Amino acid sequence: MSDPVVVRGGTVVEAGWSAPADVVVRDGKVAALTRPGGAAPRGATEIDATGMLVLPGGVDPHCHVGFTSGEFTSLDDYAECTTAAVFGGTTTIVDFAIPRPGEAPADVAYAQRAKAWQGLCDSALHACVVDWDETVPDQLGALVADGITTVKMFTTYRGETMANEDTILRTMKTLRDLGGLVVIHCEADHIIGDTQTDCAARGRIGAAHMAETRPELAETASVAEVLAIAESLGSPVYFVHQSTAEAVELVAAARRRGLAAYTESVAHHLVLDDSRYAGPAPERYVCCPPLRPRPAVDALARHLFTGEITTIGSDHCCYDLAQKESHRADVRAMPNGLPGVETRLPVIFSTFVANAGLPVTRFVELTSTNPARTNGLYPRKGTLLPGADADIVIWDPAAEWQVTADTLHMTTDYTPYEGMTLTGRPRTVLVAGRPIVHEGTLLDPTPRGRHLPAEPAVRQRRPTISA
Ligand code: URP
Ligand code: ZN
Ligand code: ZN
Repeated sequence: MSDPVVVRGGTVVEAGWSAPADVVVRDGKVAALTRPGGAAPRGATEIDATGMLVLPGGVDPHCHVGFTSGEFTSLDDYAECTTAAVFGGTTTIVDFAIPRPGEAPADVAYAQRAKAWQGLCDSALHACVVDWDETVPDQLGALVADGITTVKMFTTYRGETMANEDTILRTMKTLRDLGGLVVIHCEADHIIGDTQTDCAARGRIGAAHMAETRPELAETASVAEVLAIAESLGSPVYFVHQSTAEAVELVAAARRRGLAAYTESVAHHLVLDDSRYAGPAPERYVCCPPLRPRPAVDALARHLFTGEITTIGSDHCCYDLAQKESHRADVRAMPNGLPGVETRLPVIFSTFVANAGLPVTRFVELTSTNPARTNGLYPRKGTLLPGADADIVIWDPAAEWQVTADTLHMTTDYTPYEGMTLTGRPRTVLVAGRPIVHEGTLLDPTPRGRHLPAEPAVRQRRPTISA
């Protein structure tokens, strides 16, 4: 038993509503939402949230911790990644257990799960299937029974993590019957491979040419193919880091036809555009899919408002400048991905809530509640309703500040948002009812992370076909 805490005087924001309320916390959970100014439980510690928004902690559905791809491993571990996460208002991360050639998906997932305790906040895990063999169904069965219900797949990165269509179909079908969910990176590798060969022949394969090496069409084509597989099976499917409105609209159309199909977008695709590749340090922005032209970014971002985007992730990959610069002349050899677990919430809040009128309830839905739902973590995470874990962000909606890598906490020496002026940031962050961060200071570095077993993420009956 721990002493109660009351967060007083703020405006509680949930996915569907917001209202002035005090939040009473006991034993690490939300005990009650009460009328503002009501009597506090005896012995309660009071935290003043006057003028602040009181949000459920962010849930980052797409976060690579210590991720190895090619010759590169991203630089953070669970302690470092979750430290940065909590500074940015994210109190749950969902990491990936991605097998190297020859490794069994379940072995890799259990090894990664064993690191969760190092975190300053809780974490969950996506497993990953690359190749199909007769052991995969049993591995998936064991993983789902153990609460690892989401499985990452890729239609690109040939020779690394790319799965072929048969493997995607079999994995989807198996997970459909187990109550799991495929989460998939879609870029048609044959189109990308051919485009890159052409680009290389013309001397346009460096970081400055990143956008043209991975065309939008490759994403559209792959999303259409994967949707067709999912629809033929009646399998739920979640598309990670969708970077174009066309891709989002394909998914939305399938959803209207009754498929449980979901779109994740990530902060950098919603905010930054491909003009960064024309700047002095294009390698800092090399990610897959690449940043898109401004009209495409704006078209994508409109779907935050239409409701077609389900979640916002970070796709956090903590490479440093030495890693990013080492093969800048050839994107095929570069480490892909950008650091972002700490900046996801502030960048999205500032760009869309403070400056473009996105309702703050929708911000919570996109960055906390829906990621918790699609990952089978709701209502333990993604809400402040009684019974939820007391992961609470007291958010100052008016704070103005400038992003600079020097003052962030990610295990890298740069940020793609360097110099940007933002409005809004966390003032105090509580994890399981304990204040962890206050006004930019880490109050308690004790690792207390828990691995979160997921409920079956999405259940979908096979669509019936009427005569
Ligand atoms: O560029 C990216 N996104 N790197 C991380 C791996 C992935 O594809 O998600
Ligand atoms: Zn990806
Ligand atoms: Zn990723």
